[in-house]
Amino acid sequence: MKRRLPVCRREDLGPGRLATAWVGHDRHGLPQEALVLVDASGVVRAYVNQCKHLPIPIDSGSREFFDDDNEHLLCGTHGALFRLDDGMCIHGPCRGLPLEPIALEEHDGEIVLLLDE
Ligand code: FES
Repeated sequence: MKRRLPVCRREDLGPGRLATAWVGHDRHGLPQEALVLVDASGVVRAYVNQCKHLPIPIDSGSREFFDDDNEHLLCGTHGALFRLDDGMCIHGPCRGLPLEPIALEEHDGEIVLLLDE
């Protein structure tokens, strides 16, 4: 059974604009946040805001999530770049390690995360 968490409307998302939501805690008890965005193909994606290289949010609390071209997610601390369409790190210390995806669905423009209980 999945917990359903409405997050935003599709029109809230766009280049350089994403939505966030608290989705639970990791195995260390640290709070986890979802990043909800739309990729270059217009597909809505959601990822856990935590790098696989260090268990910290990719924005380190800065609330700056995108590179200058809004084409990748960015770890501002280490300069790592993550593709929007699959969360894969393509540059930086976590290269080859993707952000953890979160399942979602869309109903009449509303984006709903589907979370494990
Ligand atoms: S925490 Fe992994 S690249 Fe910054």
